[in-house]
Amino acid sequence: MTGVGLDLAIVVPVFNERGNVPLLVAALDRALAGRNWEVVFVDDDSPDGTADAVRAIARTDPRVRVLQRIGRRGLSSACIEGMCATAAPLVAVIDGDLQHDEALLPRMADLLAGDPALDLVVGSRFVDGGGTGAWDADRVAKSAFATRLSRRVLKADLSDPMSGFFMIRADAVRAIVPRLSAIGFKILLDIMTAAPRPLRFAELPYVFRTRAVGESKLDHVVALEYLIALYDRLAGRVVPVRFVLFSAIGAMGAIVHLAALAVLLEVRAGFIAATVAATFVAMTFNFFLNNLLTYRDRRLRGTRALFDGWVSFCAVCSVGAVANVGVAAFLYDVRVGAWALPALAGIAVGAVWNFALSSRFTWGRYGRK
Ligand code: GDD
Ligand code: MN
Repeated sequence: MTGVGLDLAIVVPVFNERGNVPLLVAALDRALAGRNWEVVFVDDDSPDGTADAVRAIARTDPRVRVLQRIGRRGLSSACIEGMCATAAPLVAVIDGDLQHDEALLPRMADLLAGDPALDLVVGSRFVDGGGTGAWDADRVAKSAFATRLSRRVLKADLSDPMSGFFMIRADAVRAIVPRLSAIGFKILLDIMTAAPRPLRFAELPYVFRTRAVGESKLDHVVALEYLIALYDRLAGRVVPVRFVLFSAIGAMGAIVHLAALAVLLEVRAGFIAATVAATFVAMTFNFFLNNLLTYRDRRLRGTRALFDGWVSFCAVCSVGAVANVGVAAFLYDVRVGAWALPALAGIAVGAVWNFALSSRFTWGRYGRK
């Protein structure tokens, strides 16, 4: 079954997995003996020096490569870029922490080689013979919930749509890359829902291993990203997901503004001074929350970058406030509705302004360090 050329690429997203890199390469070497493969580690400039750990091996083993991304984060986008960085006809995605069972890879490749109608093979924890290993009840429950939720979005009856372990034909995946949302952890779900026709898949069982080295990156923000990715798939084309987040945070900012104003008036600050102070409190709150959530993938870090970002965000929002008042006053003057309609129109214009300009100047090319 092995030809003369490259048969298979293993794409491994890694963040702070320095200790796992040599272990995984050794495991792949055992599992894929006799095949023509390469492994592409996609590292998001991990502080622990994961990329250097890959390069140390790559110097003597040409099957090993690293793609080091600077100023970016994200499991899905890392997988996508890795899949686009190889000439192999088959690509597999596997975690870098040895929790997935690499021994499945040869069978995945053989299934795809033996059936041209098959698009991908998924490693599943939820078919006979598979399992979640040493997970606690809490994680099992959360995973089951996320799986149920995904089934509503997904038309295919995958038993483990949350799996981060699968093999797919490289040309099939590259054809749908422009349609992928690339947010968060759920690359498989993204691929399955983006495909213009239902993809034909097979499932192979495996048991999820416990992580021996390093730590998981799945946290609350990742859980939120998952919901964001589902939303993006359902309605993201109508109203972009970033704008929804930005507006929701803006609405919270309005509450923060009122609360700060109430406190300041309570301590007998003058109304103008209190309003100015409350505005800054709200803008600061919005800036940090947007930096944490809306622009997580381009997050500003370090005192200098944060200060510059905050200044540009406040500048953008001040102009947005003037636009808001201007539009509302104009519509009120020409008597479009009572007061609520002009007010809402003003808020909408201000929000779009703030979003468009801050995404360019605060978190865009000019804002990034
Ligand atoms: N490049 C890059 N960038 N890699 C990342 C990032 C990132 O932002 N975040 C995580 N990774 C890498 C990790 O280093 C690891 O190799 C792999 O992606 C999986 O991350 P973990 O943090 O170990 O995730 P997990 O074990 O909690 O989650 C696994 O199980 C889920 C199912 O419950 C993953 O396999 C998920 O894909 C899977 O859905
Ligand atoms: Mn893991």
